[in-house]
Amino acid sequence: MRRPLVMGNWKLNGSKAMVADLIKGLDAELAGVEGVDVAIAPPVMYLDLAEQLLGKAESKILLGSQNVDLNASGAFTGDISPEMLKDFGATHIIIGHSERREYHAESDEFVAKKFAFLKEHGLVPVLCIGESEAQNEAGETVAVCARQLDAVIDTQGVEALNGAVIAYEPIWAIGTGKAATADDAQRIHAAIRAHIAAKSEEVAKNVVIQYGGSVKPENAEAYFAQPDIDGALVGGAALVADSFAAIAKAAAKAKN
Ligand code: PGA
Repeated sequence: MRRPLVMGNWKLNGSKAMVADLIKGLDAELAGVEGVDVAIAPPVMYLDLAEQLLGKAESKILLGSQNVDLNASGAFTGDISPEMLKDFGATHIIIGHSERREYHAESDEFVAKKFAFLKEHGLVPVLCIGESEAQNEAGETVAVCARQLDAVIDTQGVEALNGAVIAYEPIWAIGTGKAATADDAQRIHAAIRAHIAAKSEEVAKNVVIQYGGSVKPENAEAYFAQPDIDGALVGGAALVADSFAAIAKAAAKAKN
């Protein structure tokens, strides 16, 4: 049985006050909500504060991060290592987000190396995949997702996906309000799972595949009603406690 995961990607948003308010609000809203894992990925600057606040509140919310670099230590100015993320209690690490692929020219191969590096250090990669609008219109969605996944599968074996999370995020749906329909998303999720199943049915059955891209309280239920959608990676709506909590509650309700 796959356990749903609703994760908030805060992107480049936050302040000490905002971190404190949002965590307080989320803890209040999520008290008593069972059957869903909830994670937040604040900017790395605020991991320390978030870890302290979550600890003090004995919160069930998991801590994550939005990126990792590829070196363990040494002369790599500006880099952050897996051990540093672990040191602050982060467990779920987003890699391959389309904004990093686009603005930082991260290739499939580069992202796959990050995937391996996280696994090596016992962290959970949240691997983002997804197509552009042009690729979508050209009917290339499944091929693009398969290629992005194969960068991991072909170098690390399909079993590397055990315990990892995949986030299918059509780029045209991110931050645009133009979400994929639940039916379209389900079709792609099923195709992604089938692609993995061709290598291992067991891995495909167990891997969590989130949908991301303009998920809101208003559309969340429809996604989670789909058999192959196991949660969501949420941007904008994750910055408002009651919106994000409503999405997590919808996942808990639909999947249990
Ligand atoms: P959005 O972002 O929910 O604001 O569309 C999702 C994401 O980029 O992970």
